[in-house]
Amino acid sequence: MTKIDPTQLSADDWDEVNFPRPEANDFDRVVECAISRRGFLGGVLAFGSGAAAMGAGLMSSTSAQAQNASRFAFTPIAIQTDNSVHVPEGYSWKVVARWGDPLFSDADGYDITDGGVVEKSDRIFGENTDGMFTFDHNGHQLIAINHEYPNTKINLPAAQERKPVSADDVRKLQNLQGVTVMEITETPEGWTVVKDSPFNRRIHHNTPMKIVGPAAGHDLLKTEADPTGTTSLGTMNNCGAGKTPWGTYLTCEENFNGYFGSTDEAASYDQTVADGFKRYGVKAESWNGYEAFDPRFDTSKTPNEPHRVGWIVEIDPTDPESTPVKHTGLGRFKHENAAVAIAPDGRVVVYMGDDERGEYLYKFVSNGVYQPGGPTENLFNFGTLYAAKFNDDQTGEWLALTPESTGMEPADIAIFTRMAASKVGGTTMDRPEWVATSPVAVEAYACLTNNKNRGVKPNAGGDDTSANPVNPRETNHYGQIVRWRPANDDHAADGFDWDLYVMAGNPTVHNDAYAGSANVNEGNLFNSPDGMAIDSTGLVWIQTDGDDGNEGDFVGNGNNQMLVGDPVTGEIVRFLTGPSGCEVTGLTWSDDLRTMFVGIQHPGGTWPDGEGLPRSSIIAVKRDDNGILG
Ligand code: FEO
Ligand code: CA
Ligand code: CA
Repeated sequence: MTKIDPTQLSADDWDEVNFPRPEANDFDRVVECAISRRGFLGGVLAFGSGAAAMGAGLMSSTSAQAQNASRFAFTPIAIQTDNSVHVPEGYSWKVVARWGDPLFSDADGYDITDGGVVEKSDRIFGENTDGMFTFDHNGHQLIAINHEYPNTKINLPAAQERKPVSADDVRKLQNLQGVTVMEITETPEGWTVVKDSPFNRRIHHNTPMKIVGPAAGHDLLKTEADPTGTTSLGTMNNCGAGKTPWGTYLTCEENFNGYFGSTDEAASYDQTVADGFKRYGVKAESWNGYEAFDPRFDTSKTPNEPHRVGWIVEIDPTDPESTPVKHTGLGRFKHENAAVAIAPDGRVVVYMGDDERGEYLYKFVSNGVYQPGGPTENLFNFGTLYAAKFNDDQTGEWLALTPESTGMEPADIAIFTRMAASKVGGTTMDRPEWVATSPVAVEAYACLTNNKNRGVKPNAGGDDTSANPVNPRETNHYGQIVRWRPANDDHAADGFDWDLYVMAGNPTVHNDAYAGSANVNEGNLFNSPDGMAIDSTGLVWIQTDGDDGNEGDFVGNGNNQMLVGDPVTGEIVRFLTGPSGCEVTGLTWSDDLRTMFVGIQHPGGTWPDGEGLPRSSIIAVKRDDNGILG
């Protein structure tokens, strides 16, 4: 039997190999379910064309603000399949930073062609950019950027079988990931990194962190190196991000499970640990082979280390000496991003997706209130986690994860949040990626990127994943975006109304639900919505991480891309296309809103240099007249 090389799999496909779907599906049950959904889908498909049979009611009180905003100020662009970035006429783009660019002059000349020298690998811009935010600090333009995972065959060109062959190889990969904080400045030649700025900093897999909140000090977080369970090394698989009103950066640990393996095939674990490994996908073989050279990633030696990741980490970008803080109060799962809102009474609300097939959408509500200039260090330590439940009638409720509702202790709810959500009966989702809140209306949007297991098999906890109103399509490989309006215009409220803003699809191939909602057409085809941000005017920017083969069900989609949607009319148009092979992920604006920073992750070919290795990069997009764009 051919052995599958885990380094060649995406994070979700790696999980799929380890938790394969049943060989035989209950075809009759699937068909019956699809038919029973027809009425509901009819309603969804009506949305978009007229704003919406459903959307008009839900969004009516926002329409005044939205109508004052300038709508699309550009001519939408066509799909592309080439190896470059394209933006509309009247706009231009330029690379700001590429993997391997020095942040400090002592790393000048860092040579990526052989992976570079390990000693300087934490002095350069990292690999595979993802979520990011800008920060204005006393006139300095700072930016914090996630580096999600390595491309081993690119980052270690000499490594055999695309796995590290030495401790130095492992250290190089560890240094290329995590977070970059750096200062940037706009010059006549465009945005550039301020080399040697005192704010420049790399945070990686070996950076000391504090662990706080309900799980801090719990036995499951203790290791030989940290018998207190309150400090750890590093943050990993940093996917999406968040920004707090008090000016800190939230980096979100997503597919942490894949970093761990076991050098002892016969290793056994306490039942609690084993159950957790099963639910979170920690297996005997890792993606990147760290465990062969770094015992911290060898679960046969340090079985509690996986409990020390899967969190949201808070970083003060203005203080390069500050210790990042892992907030266990925000739960442990495959964190996509963190969308922060302030409730009318000042409580802090954080919306969070767990990007796994059939897992849940969450929010956290603090007990304490945020006061500008006031203390913030305990806001995430004391509060309540909730899992979303979407009802058939387009209402919904946030189900509190408490000792009373789950029978679990607060620390266990934090460490095994997925199990807690299963106990209260949340709605299993089609891989929640980014959540975005609107600055002009009390509403939020979430990308549900795709889910080939919808209606096919339960999640790793055994929860039913039959089609449901908010995830209405079996074997959903296109994705959809759900939005909700909290009751009483209060993000802390238990209730909400919801609708589907868009169901991606392909009306040139299908004439059923897989055609997508009515606001999908031949001119704006896309699949697998993932990154998302809502700009200061209320427009919804959508980034994709989908199938870019441009054939079959995906014909007419082209390369991955960034689109922008009108929240009122449902109109969605294409703004940017990425180079072939890439994912477009990460979006933030300069303080003057005249530059949009966009991330290009894992480009193919030789982008952006036109020779040598491909280099994940962030780019600056501007209007040629230097106008505001967002
Ligand atoms: Fe890192 Fe779910 O994307
Ligand atoms: Ca993502
Ligand atoms: Ca994705």
